[in-house]
Amino acid sequence: MAISGQHGGNVLQMANQFGLAPSDVIDFSANINPLGMPGGLKHLLVENLSRLEQYPDIDYHLLHRQLARHHQCSQSHVIAGNGATELIFLWAQYVKPQKALLVEPSFGEYRRALTRVGCKITNYLLCEEEEFRVTKRILTALSPDLDCLFLCTPNNPTGLQPDPDLLTEILNRCDVMGIKLFVDESFLDFMPETKSLCRYLPCHDNLYILRSLTKFYALPGLRLGYMLSSDAELLQQIREQREPWTINALAALAGEVLFDFITYHQATYNWLFKEQTYLLGELQQFEKIKLYKPSANYIFFKHLDNQSALQSQLMKHGILIRSCANYLGLDKSFYRVAIKSRADNERLVSALKKVFNHG
Ligand SMILES: Cc1ncc(COP(=O)(O)O)c(C=O)c1O
Repeated sequence: MAISGQHGGNVLQMANQFGLAPSDVIDFSANINPLGMPGGLKHLLVENLSRLEQYPDIDYHLLHRQLARHHQCSQSHVIAGNGATELIFLWAQYVKPQKALLVEPSFGEYRRALTRVGCKITNYLLCEEEEFRVTKRILTALSPDLDCLFLCTPNNPTGLQPDPDLLTEILNRCDVMGIKLFVDESFLDFMPETKSLCRYLPCHDNLYILRSLTKFYALPGLRLGYMLSSDAELLQQIREQREPWTINALAALAGEVLFDFITYHQATYNWLFKEQTYLLGELQQFEKIKLYKPSANYIFFKHLDNQSALQSQLMKHGILIRSCANYLGLDKSFYRVAIKSRADNERLVSALKKVFNHG
């Protein structure tokens, strides 16, 4: 049962633990777009429920065509998965790296996938003195004996995005040293101003870019993600040998149309700009909170209290936040909260005021 405690979003378990109904809990622990899925998509899915009565196209031609078109790349350079998570595990299974460098704290599934294939993992710890930023220090940790480096940009849980020049430098170093660079851009859609590393795909076949569609489009239960790489040989091997039909017919249909919901994209950017500004402004009033200015749709902070029990204290007010105690390199004083609707954000601020005895 321990697995459920490793991620945010486990409302049921937490509600049970605190004697609450799940519907009485506002979930700030999973970073999902609060606008919900695009209205047009919901309609389309309902209208096409009968697609579940047939097998989906085993090659997902239309889906891959759309993904490739969206990224202006060849279809041989893109592969879809049952959420980004499936692709992390497939990648590890087919690359079979012997030695990996993991930047920590970060998303825990890289470690689970690599451990499963017997990979030896070296940790590169982001440190508080450097405000958990990826700095040039990482360049000194790269060596030719590494098979791969995992980077999450923006990082989960810190919400920080490395400097673009440094990212390019890391990519070039990895290329020279024969290190495969796995970059998780699952939250990058929330940052329209930030350039993806996709532009480097044509000239770096050691680069693997992971994208999730479950956060930005609010589809965590539908499951859809993809990977981009010009290592066409690896992607072809995965295509040929993976289990069939892991992407359900409705998720595939969603992926064929998602990028066309331009109004939804803009509404999301508008919501995030407003609510990120609002929530950061409000959280700044709490002396006991040290904020790390985020680049994406969630906020990472430290509760300046060695005995911190903020998650439990907020659960008493029906607010679930993500404790970061189980991330490597962090402890129970670190937390992550999703940025939600104004009404929900106000509930969080009001609960924090009660916990900190503000007014
Ligand atoms: C950084 C990161 N990558 C990937 C995933 C997995 O996304 P998906 O729902 O597409 O499997 C998550 C989920 O929380 C995540 O935080």
